[in-house]
Amino acid sequence: MARRFKLRPLPGAQEESLPNNPVIDRREFMRHSFNTAAGVITMASLGSIGFAALLMGTAESSGGDTAVRFWVPTGAEDSAWYGDRHLEPMSYSAFTQAASTSQTGMAGAQGVWSGLPVNVVYVPHDENQNSPAISDVPRFQYADGYSESGKYVGSGYEIEEDPLFSSLSIHDNLIVIFSRCTHLCCIPGWQLVQNDFTNDQWTPGAVDAGGNKLFCICHSSRFDPTTIEKNRSRNRSTGSEFDFIGIRRTGGPAPYGLPLIPWTLTGDTIEALPDFVDWYTYCD
Ligand code: FES
Repeated sequence: MARRFKLRPLPGAQEESLPNNPVIDRREFMRHSFNTAAGVITMASLGSIGFAALLMGTAESSGGDTAVRFWVPTGAEDSAWYGDRHLEPMSYSAFTQAASTSQTGMAGAQGVWSGLPVNVVYVPHDENQNSPAISDVPRFQYADGYSESGKYVGSGYEIEEDPLFSSLSIHDNLIVIFSRCTHLCCIPGWQLVQNDFTNDQWTPGAVDAGGNKLFCICHSSRFDPTTIEKNRSRNRSTGSEFDFIGIRRTGGPAPYGLPLIPWTLTGDTIEALPDFVDWYTYCD
């Protein structure tokens, strides 16, 4: 029998905003969210429900609602290293094992957390941070962020210096990223398509070249998961602006990068923290 997902409203949302029968199967979920007919993922609108209102049911899963779970796009079952782990809670050891087989020591995966699409990326920062910054020796880099209009917003260093962002402090060589493109809200992917931007390569300097970018197939925006900056985003519905800490947009039509999600380890399970939920509403 097809796996079913129960829809629940976001905290504070009205129950009436849900359809009469708020249960969908995977096919419907895929149609509403991940469309992988070309081996890639794209995003469609859920209308009044909103993608953020989707929460995974717990009957068929373990790890609790805070766990980040693998999401295997249709068509990637045989190609993604996590292809047989759909909706399993993400374990930290899975990433270190996958990273050990890559040229750069990096590994990434699509995921879902409380109904939100995420990317999780492992970078061997601790091992490489004191080495010369050369190709294929990746580490996290902090950078200044500038708004769409070119105005200085802040620095990625603020996650180390401002107590407000303390839960975002880089730890355990891994980051969790909210994965909706700041262009038109598709879902960027980690190595789900092959091109110069997604090859298993790394170049220092927060540049667009060099590979291992999160790639948005819709209009080819690129995001560097190793470059942390502060930037400014906007809620499409209200127009209100807010500053966030995230990864850098390096190319394509997306106006700025993607926000980080704080996370913690419980045993071997990667669990995300709802400290900055407003940052994930720009597509609502
Ligand atoms: S929606 Fe991502 S590049 Fe257009």
